[in-house]
Amino acid sequence: MVGERLAVVSGGGTGIGKAIARELAAGGDRVVILGRRAEVLEQARAEIDQAVGAGRVVPVRADLSDADQVSGAVAEITALGPVDVLVNNAGAVISAPEDDTLPALARAWRRDLDTNLLTAVLLTTALQEHLRRPGGRLIMISSAAAQRGGAGSHSAGSYAAAKAALHGWAFGLARQLGPDGITVNVLAPGYVADTEIFGDRWSAEFHADKVADTLVGRAGTPADVATAVRYIASPAGGYLTGQVIGLNGGAVLGR
Ligand SMILES: NC(=O)c1ccc[n+]([C@@H]2O[C@H](COP(=O)([O-])OP(=O)(O)OC[C@H]3O[C@@H](n4cnc5c(N)ncnc54)[C@H](OP(=O)(O)O)[C@@H]3O)[C@@H](O)[C@H]2O)c1
Repeated sequence: MVGERLAVVSGGGTGIGKAIARELAAGGDRVVILGRRAEVLEQARAEIDQAVGAGRVVPVRADLSDADQVSGAVAEITALGPVDVLVNNAGAVISAPEDDTLPALARAWRRDLDTNLLTAVLLTTALQEHLRRPGGRLIMISSAAAQRGGAGSHSAGSYAAAKAALHGWAFGLARQLGPDGITVNVLAPGYVADTEIFGDRWSAEFHADKVADTLVGRAGTPADVATAVRYIASPAGGYLTGQVIGLNGGAVLGR
C-alpha cells in the first residue's frame, strides 16, 4: 500500500482503464477517471466505490481529442493537487474508411490519430507542469499492433501507426522528464478480452484466433494490464523509464 497519491486514468470508465483505476484505488490512490460518457464514468465510480470503499474515484467527463475540453478537465484535476500518476489509456479501433477514396482514407486516419495519439498528447501536455517532481509516473497504453503491424483491412493500419507514434513521443518525454525524477513508459498489451473495444467485431472465432496467437493459450485480462501498471506506477518502479513493455502472452516476442 502506498500513501494517497493522485492518479489520472483516461478511458477509466470501461475495460482496461476501469481495471487500472480500481487497482490504483485499491492501493490507496485517489483516481480521476476520464471519458466522454458521464453515465459510464458514474457507473465505474459506483463499482469501484463498492469494491474498495467510497471516495477514491473522481469522474471527469471530457472528449480528450478536443483541446478546449482537455483544458476544462485539467482545471478540475489540478484543483485536486499535483498528479503522481498519469495513465493515457483512452483509445479505440476506428472503423474502416467508408469508401476507397483518398478523402475517406484521410478522415479515417485523422479519427485514429485523434483518438489514439492526440488524446494522450493533449492531456499529457496540459498536465505536464502539474506532475509530481520527483516521483511522477507517465504511462502510455499502446498495443502489440504497434509492434507487429496493423489490424488488417479493418483500420487500414492507422490504429497500429497511431499507437506506434506514442512510442517515439514517449522516448522523447522520458529524456525530457527523467532529470525531474519522472518516469515515462509504454505498455503494449496484446489481446485483452472483456472490454468494449472490439464491439460487434468480436466473435468466438475472433477470440479463438487471438488466443491461438499467444504462447500461454489464453486471452489477457484487464486485471493483467492493471497489475503491470501498478508496478510501473509505484515508487519501486523508479529505475524503469523510456521502455516499451510488451504484455501479450508471448504473441509478440521481445521487441
Ligand atoms: N482490448 C485489447 O485487446 C487491447 C489491446 C491492446 C491495446 N488496447 C488499448 O487499451 C486501451 C483501452 O482499451 P479497452 O480495450 O479497455 O477498450 P474500451 O473498453 O473501449 O476503452 C476505451 C476507453 O477510452 C475512452 N475514450 C475513447 N475515446 C476517447 C476520447 N476521445 N476522449 C476520452 N475518452 C475516450 C472510452 O470512453 P468513452 O467512449 O466514454 O469516451 C473508453 O472508456 C485503448 O487505448 C486500446 O487501444 C486494448
